[in-house]
Amino acid sequence: MTSSDASSPDSFDCVGLVNPGAMGSSIGAQLTRAGSRVVWAGEGRSTESHLRAGDAGLVDVESMQALVDEADLIISVCPPAAAVATASTIADLGFAGVYLDANAVSPATGRSVAALFNGSSTESGAIAIDGGIVGPPVSGPGSTRLYISGDAVAMGSIENLFESSNLEVRVVDGPAGAASAVKMCFAAWTKGTTALLLDICALADAEGVTDSLRGEWATSMPELSARADRSPAMVGAKAWRFEGEMHEIAASFAAHDLPDGFHLAAAEVYARLAELKGSRDTSLDEVVDLLSARV
Ligand SMILES: NC(=O)c1ccc[n+]([C@@H]2O[C@H](COP(=O)([O-])OP(=O)(O)OC[C@H]3O[C@@H](n4cnc5c(N)ncnc54)[C@H](OP(=O)(O)O)[C@@H]3O)[C@@H](O)[C@H]2O)c1
Repeated sequence: MTSSDASSPDSFDCVGLVNPGAMGSSIGAQLTRAGSRVVWAGEGRSTESHLRAGDAGLVDVESMQALVDEADLIISVCPPAAAVATASTIADLGFAGVYLDANAVSPATGRSVAALFNGSSTESGAIAIDGGIVGPPVSGPGSTRLYISGDAVAMGSIENLFESSNLEVRVVDGPAGAASAVKMCFAAWTKGTTALLLDICALADAEGVTDSLRGEWATSMPELSARADRSPAMVGAKAWRFEGEMHEIAASFAAHDLPDGFHLAAAEVYARLAELKGSRDTSLDEVVDLLSARV
């Protein structure tokens, strides 16, 4: 789409997906199965991204410029720490359609992304929609929600696009960045408490009281033992990108002068686990060793 096409469309002819990770490819697959054309830019991306994109039926247009030229909706689903740089690249390439940032970023970061498109600097007429995803990569009905906020007409088009898919779109009323705020509040609890629990396991190990703690949990909080045991396999491989998400959550609290230390500590927990990227079946022992810097 060129800058002269700028408007809020009723429907989309071509969706650009940046980039086909576990979540992005699952969203792309929902669209291609419904007959939409979904393109991505494979230049410089990993073998894993190429494999996921192929499985999802995405068309590789190779360069980001080609994607920008063809897509009238771009959905950004990338590591949160890369959200602004990704948006900036796309704005600089002259994108003039609807840009949906679906990443786990603070409301302020979401507004910075929007300003790259809605601001006068690009004069492209592009429209930015703030978004946040809750749930695992899209599978069956009810698995995953996409929260969005922003321009009503563009949001209506996004709702229509996903109407017959398994990705449920929920519109958030509120100020700019409202959808990101929902995501931050949700993940503050889920990923924040997981980091706390793993840190507690490392402390119990360091003090030699794991068996006693497990015994107390069995008596009074049996769900904690089960959660501690299953969390490493759930977060180990993704910890590298959770660090950035925790910083975004901390910034969300700090912006309202609320205590942000919980999630700064959670960021440190995930940073210490970053080398588990891509690992399978991470054990609690591996996590405890990494947190205690015993590797
Ligand atoms: N997975 C989930 O369960 C889940 C749930 C809710 C929300 N989300 C959100 O979805 C987003 C991505 O998650 P994901 O599960 O798809 O992650 P992922 O599986 O790790 O994939 C990340 C994708 O982004 C690309 N990427 C890596 N570094 C990049 C960079 N610096 N700039 C641009 N792209 C980069 C990767 O490409 P290469 O491998 O080619 O580098 C890959 O295609 C995050 O914002 C996350 O918060 C995910």
